[in-house]
Amino acid sequence: MKRTSREHWSPLKGGCMDPAAGLTYSSFFLKTKMLAYILCTALAVLPLMIYFRNPYFLKDLSYTFLSIYVGIRLSRIKKKFYSILDRFLDKVAEHPHKKFIVYEESSYTYSQADRESNKVARALLTHAHLKEGDTVALFLGNEPWFVWIWLALSKLGCTASFLNVNIRSKSLLHCFSCCEAKVLIAGADLQGAIEEVLPTLKQQGIRVFILREHCHVDGIESLSDKIQMESDEPLSRQLRASINIKSPAVYIYTSGTTGLPKAAVINHEKVWIRAFGMTFAGVRSDDIVYIYLPLYHTAGFLLGLYGAIERGTTVVLRSKFSASNFWNDCRKYNVTVIQYIGEVMRYLCNTLKRDNDKDHKVRLAIGNGIREDTWVEFLERFGNICIRECYGATEGNVGFFNYGGKIGAVGREHFLYKMACKYALIRFDTEKEEPVRDSRGFCIEVPRGETGLLVAKIGKRTPFSGYAKDKQQTDKKKLRDVFEKGDMYFNSGDLLKITDEGFIFFQDRIGDTFRWKGENVATTEVADHLLTVDFIEEAKVYGVKVPGHEGRIGMAALKLKENMDFDGKAFYQHVKNYLPSYARPRFVRIQDALVVTSTFKQMKVKLAEEGFNPALIKDPLFYLEDNKGYIPMTQELFNCIAEGRLRL
Ligand SMILES: *[C@@H]1O[C@H](CO)[C@@H](O)[C@H](O)[C@H]1NC(C)=O
Repeated sequence: MKRTSREHWSPLKGGCMDPAAGLTYSSFFLKTKMLAYILCTALAVLPLMIYFRNPYFLKDLSYTFLSIYVGIRLSRIKKKFYSILDRFLDKVAEHPHKKFIVYEESSYTYSQADRESNKVARALLTHAHLKEGDTVALFLGNEPWFVWIWLALSKLGCTASFLNVNIRSKSLLHCFSCCEAKVLIAGADLQGAIEEVLPTLKQQGIRVFILREHCHVDGIESLSDKIQMESDEPLSRQLRASINIKSPAVYIYTSGTTGLPKAAVINHEKVWIRAFGMTFAGVRSDDIVYIYLPLYHTAGFLLGLYGAIERGTTVVLRSKFSASNFWNDCRKYNVTVIQYIGEVMRYLCNTLKRDNDKDHKVRLAIGNGIREDTWVEFLERFGNICIRECYGATEGNVGFFNYGGKIGAVGREHFLYKMACKYALIRFDTEKEEPVRDSRGFCIEVPRGETGLLVAKIGKRTPFSGYAKDKQQTDKKKLRDVFEKGDMYFNSGDLLKITDEGFIFFQDRIGDTFRWKGENVATTEVADHLLTVDFIEEAKVYGVKVPGHEGRIGMAALKLKENMDFDGKAFYQHVKNYLPSYARPRFVRIQDALVVTSTFKQMKVKLAEEGFNPALIKDPLFYLEDNKGYIPMTQELFNCIAEGRLRL
């Protein structure tokens, strides 16, 4: 009975001459068949199970392979030092006639860029007497010269220090002195800003060059004419023989989350980690990358230009962002990869709808800070573009990458990265502005889904090189005794949240800095400038949230000197002369006394929460009208801003 029923299953039923043999055969096939059934079912169900357990399984897997690939390449680069310049020179050899930089109506091949930078290097060698290890400050906007000069400095084994072209006077001098450069190279259009600080530069014996053919100002030397005279023959590698993976490659200014702008030291190792951002995002050598973000910032320079060189792509360079020309540029130059900051994506969504909105070849957008609603709107409006959001501070030792494509997230946790970089979100007291500690004095990791301060262990693989010549600020970014006695973590100053699914969401930034239009604004620095106005006795600067905008906009609470009035005109002249537009307080609040209720920090938090609504604030309020001046704030104005009819 048993046998028959079994035989029913056998594919060879009745086909066997020997009943005993038949039994063996049939049971063998039966077993195989059952096994096959089970296997097939399992194979069919497994992906489903994996999918329900983790819908991002395939993405996680491909990210794992990418991480291994990049890890292997990094370890090779470290073993036998290979710089981004070496990568560039290899690409020149590989495809000398491929376009490297396209700028306005001109384009330059890899080989042309190489030769141009040889000329610059020779001119600097002859006239500025540069040698290996020297630092040169570059005060220049986005143009091909920026790239040639940086390449030239790399060829000479020098470190470039990139000054923000928006800064002036005291800030400019401060930034310049951070990196102890002896030479300053400025763009032709920035001569005025240089002349303002020239007496001090002269006093310090700084050599100043300007990218012009002639210059008749005493103390500024022309550079363009000198470059033209030089030969474009390659320079000896001997000139940079002792540069290694730990040598500073560039200085990039950041306000970190506290105090004045500081020069973050980016060594060659860090440069590579950043440059691989494009590799992780899936950029290919046949892509065309559009760079309009300033090259003096991390995003434009390290992720953008370095990433493009790493991949050997063509770069379309633009002096600055233009919402009206953005898509026309993309179409004209066949751009396939764009970079962004959140604001830019919003500006693009705010432009008038056009029939050809989806007519372009852009397939990938890499950046940081896009809001969830903008993300959705952007895809609807401009088509199926893969958005790769990332997170990372210029000087930080930790970064995330949202390869899963979850809308709104800045990153996704991955076990390999967790192994390489020990980071944690710790409980944070926003009132006292410090981490919460347990009875033993250690920090407390928050559970999933809860907001915490991001910290990352400082170690051999995750170093924190800190800020140039600023030990105090470097120390401020270090958090000690976090989980055990004697350990040390990098304090990101950012509050993040990690969901059950493993996606990382940015929540807020703490400290004396806020972010507006993609720039960090250091509140103390702005306050220091305001205090030089003759009728101001005290000034507190902070950022306030504006509905529908990323980041925070600047606001100042002022206490006036006795028997003095707020002179809106004079105040405007002052902020216009000394502060870049993103740092100018957009709202001003006049207080009788800057009430110190409890701690200073708590007061700032309170002021920031109160915002700029005249219905709630009884103090006199002023609003900075675009390029005009400070006018009294009204309820009408407030409503316009709150409803998005007036964009800031
Ligand atoms: C862009 O692509 C089109 C079609 O592939 C081509 O005809 C055109 O020459 C390209 N434009 C540029 C600037 O490379």
